[in-house]
Amino acid sequence: MKKSKVINVSNVSGGVGKSTTVIELATYFGSKGYHCLVIDADMQASATDCIGDKGLPIHDKELKTLNKQIEQGNSVLKALDNCLIESVSSDLSDVMVEPEIIEEVIQKTEVHNVDLCPSSIRLCQTDKQLTDDITRSAINRLSIALDIVKEKYDYILIDNSPAQTLVSTNTLLASDLNIIPVKLDRKSLKGMILSLKNTLSVMKRNRKEIDVKILFTMVARRGRTEKLMIPWLKEQFGDMILDTLIPYQKKPAQDASLKNKQIVWTNTTLGFAYKELGEELLRVLEGVENDKAARIIQ
Ligand SMILES: Nc1ncnc2c1ncn2[C@@H]1O[C@H](COP(=O)(O)OP(=O)(O)OP(=O)(O)O)[C@@H](O)[C@H]1O
Ligand SMILES: [Mg+2]
Repeated sequence: MKKSKVINVSNVSGGVGKSTTVIELATYFGSKGYHCLVIDADMQASATDCIGDKGLPIHDKELKTLNKQIEQGNSVLKALDNCLIESVSSDLSDVMVEPEIIEEVIQKTEVHNVDLCPSSIRLCQTDKQLTDDITRSAINRLSIALDIVKEKYDYILIDNSPAQTLVSTNTLLASDLNIIPVKLDRKSLKGMILSLKNTLSVMKRNRKEIDVKILFTMVARRGRTEKLMIPWLKEQFGDMILDTLIPYQKKPAQDASLKNKQIVWTNTTLGFAYKELGEELLRVLEGVENDKAARIIQ
């Protein structure tokens, strides 16, 4: 019987490669025969756009319904909300309200061995729904949901938005390993510090052990900051830094989508790096060690 390991990918900095890392790792693990579930916990839904059901384009019939609703006295916003928002299928925002329905929300994807719990813009209302509902804890809904499906998957990978919300506290508390992708610039390093502090304080407050790893992404081959900072950060953070460096590559998504496949299957340095990362993480996940993270808290 399977008992999946949950890998959270988060950073309060935007555009550091969180979604790319989740999709590429899930694709790689899936190809190796591991059953994976991707949880899209970002209301911008990049992971869903990448591997989920592509929503149908808006067509004439819907426009007629919209006009009819307005004729009947509905406001434009109400009519749009009824037709566009209400008609979308369930997603993570529904699971956060009612974790017990997770199995109905999970979709199969075209990526081998990879399922998806999709997201949508509706997730922007979830924090309010969670605070308004005082009948159950607001921070362990995702853990409850994942407990229901854990036996079906080897790995569950969670993509986060950069925002620190109740949803992101849920994703942290549901995870065994939190990967923080970091670009080596000032803004992203600041984001790394805030993300580390937040992870460690969530761990402490909730007496939950989560392994923490830092992943350098978009590393420029001849970058000055990279040359200075990588050895220094490695010395300070030790094992917390993953060995694999994800290189910067121009237009990686386009290159991959041109061939209708993920980056990991492109014959590029970036593709090889994601394979290497997959292998490194499989080793890490075999023996999730946590003492380094604990040491940094003190
Ligand atoms: N190694 C790379 N080299 C160059 N560009 C990359 C690399 N990895 C990802 N990108 C591109 O950078 C952009 C941001 O990547 P991605 O969406 O994965 O980041 P993110 O952290 O999920 O962003 P957000 O915070 O907006 O969710 C995308 O256009 C992606 O194609
Ligand atoms: Mg993203």
